[in-house]
Amino acid sequence: MRQHVNPLSKNFFEIDPIPPLSQVFENPKLPLHLDVGCASGDFLFELSLKNKNWNYIGIEIREKLVLNANLKMQSRENKNLYFSFGNANNIFDHSDNKLIIDFINSISFNFPDPWFKKKHHKRRVIQPKLINLLSNSMKKGSLIFIKTDVRELFDHMELTISESIKFKKLTNQDVQPYQSFNPNKIQTNREKYVILKQLKIYESIYKKI
Ligand SMILES: C[S@@+](CC[C@H](N)C(=O)[O-])C[C@H]1O[C@@H](n2cnc3c(N)ncnc32)[C@H](O)[C@@H]1O
Repeated sequence: MRQHVNPLSKNFFEIDPIPPLSQVFENPKLPLHLDVGCASGDFLFELSLKNKNWNYIGIEIREKLVLNANLKMQSRENKNLYFSFGNANNIFDHSDNKLIIDFINSISFNFPDPWFKKKHHKRRVIQPKLINLLSNSMKKGSLIFIKTDVRELFDHMELTISESIKFKKLTNQDVQPYQSFNPNKIQTNREKYVILKQLKIYESIYKKI
């Protein structure tokens, strides 16, 4: 399986609607977390079992990974987890999906693809259009978590988010109460690898004001 897919390819213009939350989750009233680029979903499978007081949606652009995650769902008891196939940059163009942003309490971008070459920066998942959409629709107090081992990508993500006056970066003193979406500090697969290789991790949390 190819590790990288071009999110700007026309294969990803079509968008799958996410069903209403009442059809997806046992308790749709729980706080909602969205993990963008969830890959195989291992992180969300573990998190959703350990933290049943939240609902989780994983968005992933590699369709095979989503199909496998959905197959795995059939033999699991995760009633608070849903996987959606698509490009996070246009998945919210669908009117049904746009409604979901209103219910989101937090979003994570864990180790997104770096797309190192300058001409490929437009393929990076955090883009002004997505941040604008989130800043206009996410509720006050909701959070964006970003994490990467690539310094240059981190700077790019920070710059893009901070260009929205509606998101404030939390300081080190502020962050503690905001870990609730991941209280057990479960690591993603990329995070495990990065820790094993003793690479530096850069992370920030932004709050909608
Ligand atoms: C480097 S992997 C990190 C996976 C996982 N978050 C982790 O930390 O182990 C980045 C993931 O984001 C997915 N991805 C890249 N661009 C995306 C996009 N525009 N929309 C949704 N998923 C995307 C990739 O297919 C890949 O699975």
